[in-house]
Amino acid sequence: MTGPGNGATGPGNGDRPDNGPPLLEVCDLVVHHGQLRALDGISLRVFPGEVYAIIGANGAGKSTLLRTVAGLHRPTAGSVRFDGQEVTRLRPELRARQGVVMVPEGRRLFGSLSVEENLLVGDSYARPGPWTIERVYEMFGWMRERRNQLTAQLSGGEQQTVAIGRALVANPRVLLLDELSLGLAPVVVQRIYGMLPQILATGLTVLLVEQDVSQALRVASHIHCLLEGRTTLESRPADVTADQVEAAYFGLAGTASASPPGEGGEP
Ligand SMILES: Nc1ncnc2c1ncn2[C@@H]1O[C@H](COP(=O)(O)OP(=O)(O)O)[C@@H](O)[C@H]1O
Ligand SMILES: [Mg+2]
Repeated sequence: MTGPGNGATGPGNGDRPDNGPPLLEVCDLVVHHGQLRALDGISLRVFPGEVYAIIGANGAGKSTLLRTVAGLHRPTAGSVRFDGQEVTRLRPELRARQGVVMVPEGRRLFGSLSVEENLLVGDSYARPGPWTIERVYEMFGWMRERRNQLTAQLSGGEQQTVAIGRALVANPRVLLLDELSLGLAPVVVQRIYGMLPQILATGLTVLLVEQDVSQALRVASHIHCLLEGRTTLESRPADVTADQVEAAYFGLAGTASASPPGEGGEP
């Protein structure tokens, strides 16, 4: 009934485990892009085996948060701890070797390399663990058949799947997923998120970013909403109403800064 490992769907195992420490802990994180304070005092704790979703409008700071966890931005203040160790200043490659692996927004495959060559990139910084290229091929049969095809020739959904495969081959302990659904048709998005239970069953923990709130609510055990670099909501999906989520997402409650989510980044 409640087998933690065989994950039927995300929300079912929604209880935050109070057994043991968080796998990932972010404390009072402040990150700047030049003058822009992109993250302003963000804290979160991700426990082993959960799917923790960061939601928020375009420009809210979601990617900045994920990239800082991966080591791609150096915070102005605050800390990132992974498995009890301070990793705030650790280079991204070393973080990946410890098991913090990201699927970046926009997939970032090497389009002129084949499917298998892209998977080999993940293999090059792999930790020991259950995931191998062979295991990825077992999960996604089509990838084996098209292993020699250039990824630039694949559909968006296929490319996203290869990007996930590349991350899995590195044997992450926490998998960071930035906007898997970006630019994909809803049916493809469903298929990609449908893989999550199988991935979680191998013992992974997932921290994901999603602009599509209903998608996040469907898969996450915990949601964390950002607005202009600040936390506006943190909850289990079951404990919030759609109105509360909407207010947090658009900043409708309390604060009158109802500026529409624009591109930002203007000097
Ligand atoms: N490399 C960068 N240089 C300057 N500004 C950036 C950079 N990356 C992001 N930003 C700005 O930081 C803010 C947060 O961006 P981002 O984290 O990408 O948001 P999200 O992923 O939620 O859309 C935005 O205003 C964006 O324009
Ligand atoms: Mg983003």
